[in-house]
Amino acid sequence: MAHVLSAVAWPYANGPRHIGHVAGFGVPSDVFSRYMRMTGHDVLMVSGTDEHGTPILVSADQEGVSPRVLADRYNLVIAQDLTDLGLAYDLFTRTTTRNHYAVAQELFTGDWRNGYMVEQTTSGAISPSTGRTLPDRYIEGTCPICGYGEARGDQCDNCGNQLDATDLISPRSKINGETPVFVETQHFFLDLPALADSMREWLDEREASGTWRPNVIKFARNLLDDVRPRAMTRDLDWGIPVPLDGWRDQPTKRFYVWFDAVVGYLSASIEWARRTGDPERWREWWDATLPDAPRSYYFQGKDNITFHAQVWPAELLAYAGKGDRGGEPGVYGELALPTEVVASEFMTMEGKQFSTSRGHVILVRDVLERYGPDPLRYYISAAGPENQDADFTWADFVQRNNSELVGGWGNLVQRTATMAHRSFGEVPPLGALAPVDEQLLATVRGAFTTVGELLERHRQKNALAEVMRVVSEANRYIAETTPFKLKADDERDRLGTILHVLLQAVGDINLLISPFLPHGSNRVHRVLGGEGDLVPMPRLERVDDLDGGPAYPVITGNYTATPRWVSRPLVVGTPIGVPSGAFTKFDPSVVEDELARMRDQAGSDATKPESTPAADPSSELEDGES
Ligand code: MF3
Ligand code: ZN
Repeated sequence: MAHVLSAVAWPYANGPRHIGHVAGFGVPSDVFSRYMRMTGHDVLMVSGTDEHGTPILVSADQEGVSPRVLADRYNLVIAQDLTDLGLAYDLFTRTTTRNHYAVAQELFTGDWRNGYMVEQTTSGAISPSTGRTLPDRYIEGTCPICGYGEARGDQCDNCGNQLDATDLISPRSKINGETPVFVETQHFFLDLPALADSMREWLDEREASGTWRPNVIKFARNLLDDVRPRAMTRDLDWGIPVPLDGWRDQPTKRFYVWFDAVVGYLSASIEWARRTGDPERWREWWDATLPDAPRSYYFQGKDNITFHAQVWPAELLAYAGKGDRGGEPGVYGELALPTEVVASEFMTMEGKQFSTSRGHVILVRDVLERYGPDPLRYYISAAGPENQDADFTWADFVQRNNSELVGGWGNLVQRTATMAHRSFGEVPPLGALAPVDEQLLATVRGAFTTVGELLERHRQKNALAEVMRVVSEANRYIAETTPFKLKADDERDRLGTILHVLLQAVGDINLLISPFLPHGSNRVHRVLGGEGDLVPMPRLERVDDLDGGPAYPVITGNYTATPRWVSRPLVVGTPIGVPSGAFTKFDPSVVEDELARMRDQAGSDATKPESTPAADPSSELEDGES
């Protein structure tokens, strides 16, 4: 069994997260990781909050607090939400730890020592009204390549090309609409052209594996047509300092996000290992020279493909000395490149892009409080933006919960447990099997293979649909065998057999559905007479910084008790108590209530003329980007 790294995108800690964020990478990465653990792989799932850079500074200004206070505030909010959603991270940490600073600086120094980090004079944008530097992604203008009117200073989301802000036609600030002025400034650039051949080789090999989503590999390949050096530092005072003489003490030269948060996958793995008391153990997930090569999956929104399919691999290749300039690996050795970038598409809501500033938003916290984690996880898995853009509507949310989750799965559990409780009070023994019984049992057993193959290939929608097909089969089995009609004494053996078959099916389906619905599966497990939890859950915990910084919350967990991905034979005689509904129907009025709530949120903002930039540019950018 392989070592599998689940590398999950790092959300900015500049506000509470909306459901679009967890739909793109949060829930899918958890479903995958849970499944891989069930099949016996050594999974390490890491992420954290991204707490440096302009998005944090802009929000801190708006809330009138320091960036550190802002980051502390939303790191906790986000970590709490993700815990409650049941995302089973081995470690969810943050970019403001001393460990992360040290790891990012080591990687930078390694790239630099090998000659791939080159100092260049460049033109930086400044806001004339504030005198502050304006990062590329806060500048908008017309794309010089495709003519798209809302290209960003770092890339054009329409044609996918990387840009420099100076390339944009009629550039303007996304913060206040003014025209930036460009001045000369010194920065470190990652020499992508010197790494392009190695990257192409890696991508060729990845493409040959045939596992990447076609649009993602195509995008990554196109990027190679136009490689140029990219700035890895910024004129900012909030971030990780450049660890070189003459730079270390400069108050406004800091790493850019693409040498900061992305390195988090590595630093979080190292932090995790240090916390287990076996500080070198992270290498099992990262050492490219191991005979049993570790596998790594990067869960992202589509706007971050460039950074995970090009910039991060380039940083790793540079560190290993695997480019035109040669070089030697640093203390971390030769680090493994991504096995796969699992990028999702975007989710809209009621036909429009999420927008925190316009009140067109659904926060993870609100959904969890009002409806619990199962309906949201079910919805995301069944209708999320897996390989095409998806639109969230409240009507669809209520409908899927009521008719599929409760009407299909919940109903099967409830009927089965109720009949078993009333007629036997326990799991009855199995008598002679009729063909119809054999058939259902075979269908359920077969699903471990079909569903598993789909999950392995990140086809989660199809995987869940397959589980739900088995649920329908089991419901049809009830209609066919009519156990509720078998009341006579001489029918009791047959009744016992049918209920045994049904209980076996429900127990196995509960395993099959557990990567999607861990909370619900634990409840169903107890309905079926099980004790404790079927599947492990994450916990939020306050820990000390390993290197003397301030304490902070992390998500972690012990997942060794994860059940195996195989049919589990029932134990005859296990007591079946009075079942309490494992899932809950929503009143259809929920739809109108939620739509009214949205109108209220948006209404409080309705006085703003369309043409002025939003008052909350950071969340505005978030919305567009994640
Ligand atoms: N916080 C950044 C964003 O949301 C980066 C996330 S991905 C990471 O766009 F790899 F950089 F962490
Ligand atoms: Zn373009």
